[in-house]
Amino acid sequence: MTEQPRDKTAPVLHADRMIRALQGAYARGARRKELLQLVATKMRETGSPYTGVYMYMLHGDMLELEAFDGRPTDHTRIPVGKGICGQAVAESRDINVPDVTAAAGYLACSIETKSELVVLIRRGPSILGQIDVDSDVINGFDEAEEAAVKDVADALAALL
Ligand code: SME
Repeated sequence: MTEQPRDKTAPVLHADRMIRALQGAYARGARRKELLQLVATKMRETGSPYTGVYMYMLHGDMLELEAFDGRPTDHTRIPVGKGICGQAVAESRDINVPDVTAAAGYLACSIETKSELVVLIRRGPSILGQIDVDSDVINGFDEAEEAAVKDVADALAALL
């Protein structure tokens, strides 16, 4: 019997809905802080694999936590190059860590976290910050999920 290709699973995250909510909030006058909080809250409300959502914005060589939803973290300021978050900026790339126990330089926020996804918020050549998602599920984010988070990051960048 020949093996059938598996259907690509749709992402859990409804990026289009979230982008409409962002644009609606912007039209009503919401600005940076409120928009960042809206992304964190709505994304975390999606539920598993979205356990915690942390909006780190870049200020010089420092990532600063400007909004989050989920478990609080001690890492409110992360220098570029440190942790997975700082590494994403230093290397100018999104980082998907399926198993945090295997990741060099990982900064733990909670012992419950099993996987993590960092998607950069970019405008043109500049990195404005990042959406850092923690998951209590191992291998929480597949390609479709990552693409959905990226769509939200791109829409957010246009409003900041
Ligand atoms: N795990 C991240 C730190 C951020 S907190 O977990 C919310 C890192 O390794 O950079």
